Amino acid sequence: MAEQWNKHDMEFLGGRRLRRTRRTAWSRAMVRETMLTPSDLIWPLFVIEGHNEKTAIRTMPGVERLSVDLCVAAARAARDAGIPALALFPNTPEHLRSENAAEAYNPDNLMCRALSAIKDAVPEIGLIADVALDEYSSDGQDGLVRDGDVLNDETIEVMIRSTLVQTAAGADIIAPSDMMDGRVAAIRMALDGEGHEQTQIMAYAAKYASFFYGPFREAVGSGARLKGDKKTYQMDYANSDEALREIAQDIEEGADSVMVKPGMPYLDIVRRAKDAFNIPIYAYQVSGEYAMIEMAAAAGAIDRKGAILESLYAFKRAGANGVLTYFALEVARDLGR
Ligand code: PBG
Repeated sequence: MAEQWNKHDMEFLGGRRLRRTRRTAWSRAMVRETMLTPSDLIWPLFVIEGHNEKTAIRTMPGVERLSVDLCVAAARAARDAGIPALALFPNTPEHLRSENAAEAYNPDNLMCRALSAIKDAVPEIGLIADVALDEYSSDGQDGLVRDGDVLNDETIEVMIRSTLVQTAAGADIIAPSDMMDGRVAAIRMALDGEGHEQTQIMAYAAKYASFFYGPFREAVGSGARLKGDKKTYQMDYANSDEALREIAQDIEEGADSVMVKPGMPYLDIVRRAKDAFNIPIYAYQVSGEYAMIEMAAAAGAIDRKGAILESLYAFKRAGANGVLTYFALEVARDLGR
């Protein structure tokens, strides 16, 4: 007969008990390995035309598109809560969207007006400008389209023009989000050529063709337009080595920081990138991730605040230097309490 386990006989532990340090709150605080502070959080905002205007986004309960004046108020609140930077995304009015996405480089477009209004009123906060054509084009693709092909090099020319108007308006960090080849180097050259040596580039270096962007496409108004998918430029979710090649190339081209996106389903990529490269790495907790947490909490399935904090700590634990998250303001305020 096998020997019976005797609960008094824990000798095989040799006195080692990992629960010892978890017993009390003070001890858990002492051994905690990662920290989350407001300066880890970047807050994305959706901009609309109008004054004192906000509109709900059906698939992102709790997030609203804001007119420029309300974006300024939001920027003040973010600064006061210790958030270092905002990421802006315009919902371009229907009649200004076109096949050639020319509104992207109109120096007076919605994005530029939001950038300069915030820069004027709240100069202490960093402004990250998304450079991609889906927010301006009539077909919802991130690049120019010809015969069903999303064009690489022709798109870069438009991105450069868009970069320059956004930088002139007040963008501190240019974030090309389209996964085209060669755009980081091209944008760096154009910025330097115009005397913007101090403007940073945050490369969406490893961005996957993801189903988790659905609510964002509702927010910026590109979803209903989009036919097909973005698989010829965004990455296949089955790949990981390729993400490292993408990141290496963007660093080579002159990126100041890189991003992994989406977030939670791609923490393995964040960790690999952190181990492989010596550069700031940001993760984007995207709209679908936000929606999952909000909707699960609303259904009573999870504790909302608890799940939000846990998700953000997971990014830090995986090695991210910061997180773009729609929860930023609420969490920064909570952390400051
Ligand atoms: C594209 C862009 C997207 C997001 C940020 N920039 C969507 C896409 O690639 O279709 C998604 C962000 C989110 O889902 O929160 N310019």
